[in-house]
Amino acid sequence: MSLLTVDDLHVHFIARGLDNQLRTAKALNGVSFNVEKGQVLGLVGETGAGKSLTALALLGLLRPPAKVVQGQIRFKGQPLGLLDGHASQGMRGKSITLIPQSPKTSLDPTTRIGEQLIRMQREHGEASYAAAHARALEMLASVQIPDPAQRMQAWPHELSGGMAQRVLIAAGLINSPELVIADEPTTGLDLTVQAEVLDIFKRLVRANGMSAIIITHDLGIVAHYCDRMAVMFAGTIIEEGPVGKVFEEQKHPYTQNLIASTPKQIALHGFVGGVGSPPNLYDLPQGCVYKDRCSKAQSTCSTPVPLVRFGPDHQARCHHPDQGR
Ligand SMILES: Nc1ncnc2c1ncn2[C@@H]1O[C@H](COP(=O)(O)OP(=O)(O)O)[C@@H](O)[C@H]1O
Ligand SMILES: [Mg+2]
Repeated sequence: MSLLTVDDLHVHFIARGLDNQLRTAKALNGVSFNVEKGQVLGLVGETGAGKSLTALALLGLLRPPAKVVQGQIRFKGQPLGLLDGHASQGMRGKSITLIPQSPKTSLDPTTRIGEQLIRMQREHGEASYAAAHARALEMLASVQIPDPAQRMQAWPHELSGGMAQRVLIAAGLINSPELVIADEPTTGLDLTVQAEVLDIFKRLVRANGMSAIIITHDLGIVAHYCDRMAVMFAGTIIEEGPVGKVFEEQKHPYTQNLIASTPKQIALHGFVGGVGSPPNLYDLPQGCVYKDRCSKAQSTCSTPVPLVRFGPDHQARCHHPDQGR
């Protein structure tokens, strides 16, 4: 049994426009993937693909106008309520945690670091103040923050970006979750600090037998830190498989495009995956969501897209996947 199973998740934003007409943005369109115990999954895709929304859905943090219109999420076989279901809220924040995208806005500016780490533990369990204090110190040391006792007294604004990110990793892991989701955990940090932070994160995940989802638009991070990868485009996972296999034998034209993109192309076009703009979520094309940007598109691509399997653990959603290798 998988630790986490996401099955055919659809999330829409439904809101009235200025003309008073209801408009629907189809942000997630049948997202399915699994995470096994001890595994690190890379969820990769360009900005707007739906990566953060997927994370919010997993944590039960979607709020209107976001609406789950279809799908199911199971954690250790148990269905999780899809919106802010109270029954599953205990699970979230303890068994499943999120390391959010922006450290500066995620820490409470009015509370010292140590107090925040202590409070998080006491909200989710019965740790005594002394035990929670000791655990906070231990976690700050484990994310290699120098002089943890002194840092316990620091205010969030006194930390550098790299240090703040380490504090968030400590916070995400402090209650020993079974699954930790890191949403673009190192965006905005310089490359050396990025590698330091991710090395610490991966080491702690492995040492504690946890599973993780690393959300990123950076394939280098996927190659370096993940076991499996799921490639997302316009709210759909278009390819999924073991990292080594997908890098060697990409089947979906978008994945091929993504992997062929050099950093220079990314700088030139502003996003990964070659030329073209993301599809309009208010008016998605019939059939394949990628077809307007795909060099292999044919008339069949306007029909429902099959999931094509390449062995037990590698699959792509494409009418014309690369069969050549
Ligand atoms: N309130 C909203 N109304 C309509 N669309 C929204 C709203 N909030 C987010 N979206 C859209 O949902 C899509 C997925 O966003 P997100 O999950 O943040 O993408 P990613 O994390 O992959 O960059 C984006 O295209 C975004 O524009
Ligand atoms: Mg995001």
